Amino acid sequence: MSRVVVTGGSGKLGRAVVTHLAEHGYDVVNVDTAPPPPGQPARFTRVDLTDLGQVTEALTGIDDRYDGVDAVVHLAAIPAPGLRPSGATFANNVLSTHHVFSAARRAGIRNVVWASSETVLGLPFETPPPYAPVDEEYTVRPESTYSLGKAVEEEMARHFARWDPTAKLIGLRFSNVMEVEDYAEFPSFEQDPRRRIWNLWGYIDARDGALAVQRALESDLTGAEAFIVASPDTVMTTPSADLLARYFPDVPLTRPVSGTETLLSIDKARSLLGFDPSHTWRNHAG
Ligand SMILES: NC(=O)c1ccc[n+]([C@@H]2O[C@H](COP(=O)([O-])OP(=O)(O)OC[C@H]3O[C@@H](n4cnc5c(N)ncnc54)[C@H](O)[C@@H]3O)[C@@H](O)[C@H]2O)c1
Repeated sequence: MSRVVVTGGSGKLGRAVVTHLAEHGYDVVNVDTAPPPPGQPARFTRVDLTDLGQVTEALTGIDDRYDGVDAVVHLAAIPAPGLRPSGATFANNVLSTHHVFSAARRAGIRNVVWASSETVLGLPFETPPPYAPVDEEYTVRPESTYSLGKAVEEEMARHFARWDPTAKLIGLRFSNVMEVEDYAEFPSFEQDPRRRIWNLWGYIDARDGALAVQRALESDLTGAEAFIVASPDTVMTTPSADLLARYFPDVPLTRPVSGTETLLSIDKARSLLGFDPSHTWRNHAG
C-alpha cells in the first residue's frame, strides 16, 4: 500500500482527495492546521507548513504514527485573494510550498502533486485571454498576489525538477472547486452571465478534482508539468461559443467548442494524465 501525505486534507478539496485516495487503496496521512472532519479515513497530525522542521518530520515520519512516505499531495494554502492581506497570503502559501518541495527532496520523495490555480491563466480576465479555450501554452499572467504566489510556486517546481530530473512535480491548475451543495445556486448564473465571467464560466467538482490528483499521482511523467483541471462543461446553459462572442468578441476560438463545453481546456490533462471527469452540476442543481 502506498503512503501519501495530503497537506490541507481538512479543507474543501482536501476532504474529497483524502476520501478518494483512501477508497482507492492509499494509506493517507492528513497534515493541516485545521482539524479533520469526523470519521475521515486518514491519520491526522496538526502541522504548520510554514515551519520547515515540522514539514520535514511530516514527510519522513512522525513519532510512532508512521514512517516512510511514498508521495505527497500538497493542497494546503489560503485558497483565494482577499481572505487574508496579500502579504500574509503570499508568505503562507509560497513558504509552505517551498518547504514541501524541499522536504520532499530531502526525504527522497519524487512523486509530488500540488495545487496550482486557474488564476495564473489571467483571471479575472479584465485583460481578455489571448485565445479560447485557454490552455497551458501561454505564459502565466497572475493578476493578484494570491495568483502571483502560484506562479512563483510553478517556477519553483521547475527548478526542483531541474535539480532532480527523476522527480515528478505536477501542478494542477484547479478551476473553482464545487461540492454538491454548491450546485443549487448554479441555475441563477444564467440570469447574469457576468457573475461568472471571471473564470470563463468554469468550475471543477471536488470529486473530479480528487480523480485528477489520483491520475497525477499514478502518472509516469517526470519533471515539472502544469495541467488545467476543470469540468468538461460550464456553469451555464447558454452555449460557450455564444458567451465568448458576446463578452469577448475579439478573442479567437482556436477550435470549435460544442454546446456548453468548457472554455478552460482540459485536453492536456485528458491526453497526458488520462483525466476523465464524470460529475456535472446538471444532475444536482435544485
Ligand atoms: N477552492 C477553489 O476554488 C480553488 C481553486 C483553484 C485552486 N485552489 C487551490 O486548491 C487548494 C485547496 O483549496 P481549498 O478550496 O480546499 O481550500 P481550503 O481553505 O478549504 O483548505 C485549505 C486547507 O489548508 C490549510 N492550511 C492553510 N495554510 C496552512 C499551513 N500553513 N499549514 C497547514 N495547513 C494550512 C487550512 O487549514 C485548510 O484546511 C489550495 O492550494 C488552493 O489555492 C482552490
